[in-house]
Amino acid sequence: MSLPRRSDLAHHWSLDPNTVFLNHGSFGATPIPVLEEQARIRNLLERDPVRFFEREYTDLWNASRATLARILNAETDGLTFVSNATQGVNTVLRSLKLKPGDEIIISDHTYQACWNAVDYVTQKSGARTVVVNIPFRMEGPEEVVDLIMDAVTDRTVLALIDTITSPTGTRMPFEELIEKLQSRGVDVLLDAAHGPGIVPIDLARLAPAYCTGNCHKWICSPKGSAFLHIREDRKNSVKPLNISHGFSFEGTAQEKFDFEFAWPGTQDPSPWLSIPKALTFMEGLVDGGWEEIMSRNRNLALQGRDLICDVLGTTPPVPDSMVCSMAAVEVPSDEEVGAMSLDGDPFHNQLLDDYSIQVPVMPWRHHGTKYIRISAQLYNHIDEYEYLAKALKDCL
Ligand SMILES: Cc1ncc(COP(=O)(O)O)c(C=O)c1O
Repeated sequence: MSLPRRSDLAHHWSLDPNTVFLNHGSFGATPIPVLEEQARIRNLLERDPVRFFEREYTDLWNASRATLARILNAETDGLTFVSNATQGVNTVLRSLKLKPGDEIIISDHTYQACWNAVDYVTQKSGARTVVVNIPFRMEGPEEVVDLIMDAVTDRTVLALIDTITSPTGTRMPFEELIEKLQSRGVDVLLDAAHGPGIVPIDLARLAPAYCTGNCHKWICSPKGSAFLHIREDRKNSVKPLNISHGFSFEGTAQEKFDFEFAWPGTQDPSPWLSIPKALTFMEGLVDGGWEEIMSRNRNLALQGRDLICDVLGTTPPVPDSMVCSMAAVEVPSDEEVGAMSLDGDPFHNQLLDDYSIQVPVMPWRHHGTKYIRISAQLYNHIDEYEYLAKALKDCL
């Protein structure tokens, strides 16, 4: 089979032309002009690193933060940068003062790294991780809300809620969950790893105690650009994972908060500082900006899912309202589903090696099921999902 075409916008990315790239969801993919902006910032830094960090860095950091705050409708002073959502989740969890018997709610769709971070803090403190089992095939978001709310007890201190789940690409009813959980006195840590650029997020309205998310996925900024937003009444209790110069800094509480996060030690801040360019570049690619990007990608993901369901002889596992720019379907398999392996799932490897398709096939041992998850980004074309469907037909 000859390789399918990409969309007319694909030339803005440097993706391998010999690969059918249907996995934007794992690590994003950064357009060439945004990488050029990152290179420009790095050159500026390297011309005189001392001058850059003394005289230019703070203003650039503040400008980038203010730009991101606008798209999240966030309180700028509560927003800061981290390198990735895993770090954001760890930052919050490891700042909690947990007591024996405290409970943290997660679901059995929770990203394994974040699940591990919850287990780490609960095991160390004698607290308990409460895993809510949520079947993948569901009628609608109400089911998720009911299952999670049923797990709340008077010992629940926190719930880790995804915007969109990793193994199953499912849009969670996070708005309703934040409202319901927090009105029961349970703080929410919103995991928006798949956040801005794939689903609208209004932090002022939602007011989760904590929210962390990636820009390097759906905003397409360089890897290592992520954020953490902490509600004003929780700011004092959260410290960055790296205790650095900011800890002994004598300034206002806000200056100290900013400095503690903005200076975790020497590192390359160009991913954070490239966020404004990524936001404006991406939204300028189509009439209608981010709303149109999200709607186009979602439509493509839904069409792609229909093609896969047809070929697998199955029906969509979740209603369309629970799909954004990613969609997952179960892969029929007789094997026992074990933990994910660093070598990649054999079926994933077969699709890559024999058909040049880059698509995740995820064994999810918590459900005893393998999922294939497609993503849709502006560079994709419907022909690529048709090609995947033909490959699935051949293989299965
Ligand atoms: C729901 C969820 N949380 C957290 C992460 C971790 O993101 P990162 O590797 O950028 O920390 C991912 C990554 O795919 C994810 O899907």
